[in-house]
Amino acid sequence: MILQTALFRYLILVLVALSLISCSQDSSGSSEQTIIEKATNQERNFDAEHIKRGRQLYLKNCTVCHGIYAEGATDWQQRNADGTFPAPPLNGTGHAWHHPHKALVDTIKHGTIRLGGNMPPWKDRLSDQEINDIIIWFQSKWPDELYQAWQRIDKKAQQR
Ligand code: HEC
Repeated sequence: MILQTALFRYLILVLVALSLISCSQDSSGSSEQTIIEKATNQERNFDAEHIKRGRQLYLKNCTVCHGIYAEGATDWQQRNADGTFPAPPLNGTGHAWHHPHKALVDTIKHGTIRLGGNMPPWKDRLSDQEINDIIIWFQSKWPDELYQAWQRIDKKAQQR
């Protein structure tokens, strides 16, 4: 009887161990995938020259509303008295990363005054390359996780 109980316990242990192994194989399989994804995505291919140019253009044109570090206006989530919003951060602490590249370009080109917002259009003052450089500059401030999430959003938008 004692032997039988011991055998039974042993069997249970083996079963538990086996199920643990199979679980850990699942999760280690997917985490490896995540690691590979991360390593490839970390390559932002940002050119230092573009970042530098983008910063200068940003400082000249955008700081007045979006802040010197692209940190956004204080209380940017609180409406102004007229119902519009102050300028949000572009440095990764706001929601600019929710928007695919094309949407970011469109906002910068056309502004938001036409939509009842406060941002003027830049299409007659900045070239496409200059707009791209500014985007590269503020994206270089985003943490890896955020940039990777943005890449997925951008990829999806391109497939549409
Ligand atoms: C006069 C103030 C003002 C200036 C100057 C300005 N912006 Fe904005 N920007 C805003 C406001 C306000 C918003 C939020 C949309 C709204 O409610 O109008 C915004 C939104 C944005 C967004 C979308 C962010 C998001 O989270 O959705 C981007 C990108 C952006 N601005 C980039 C720029 C760039 C680049 C420049 C300079 C070339 C610039 N802005 C200059 C006021 C400004």
